[in-house]
Amino acid sequence: MKHKNIIIVGFMGTGKTAVGKAMAERLGWRFVDTDHYIESKQGTTISDMFRDLGEPAFRNMEGEAIAAVLEGSRQVVATGGGAVLAEHNRVCMQQEGYVVALKAAPEVIINRVKQDEKRPLVQGDVKERVYSLLEARKHAYDFADLIIDSSTASVEEIVEQVIDAI
Ligand code: S3P
Repeated sequence: MKHKNIIIVGFMGTGKTAVGKAMAERLGWRFVDTDHYIESKQGTTISDMFRDLGEPAFRNMEGEAIAAVLEGSRQVVATGGGAVLAEHNRVCMQQEGYVVALKAAPEVIINRVKQDEKRPLVQGDVKERVYSLLEARKHAYDFADLIIDSSTASVEEIVEQVIDAI
């Protein structure tokens, strides 16, 4: 395997965690979810961090987490949906591994994220929030090495597509 890590990016609800776990199992690599990494380091939840410290503070921690985690190798790393917004994160990801972006149809995303209180950015009018964030992040995932639509493909099919590509 020529890649040091596999990094999964994509909007909320595109299946990063499910695909990442299955991919790690398939490769016999470690699975790391950067949101969980930040939560366990800070001893609090993402929602509480957004509420108590604000989004910019969370983004700083997210950048530090990505840099720290990607020092390691033989890992499948699932990132938070907004991790790609900072250029330094994109550069780090491209340097430290093979980047897979998952995308999904808006209706699929809305169904997956509604009633999820763990996602501070899609509280309230979930439909409106998802559409406006999707619009703002339209090209945010284009830098990936591989882009896969998870709307209809199963987790196993996505893992196979990645294995075929790497
Ligand atoms: C965010 C996505 C979340 C989490 C935080 C912010 C975003 O991760 O990092 O709530 O900006 O899209 P998931 O994509 O795993 O839900």
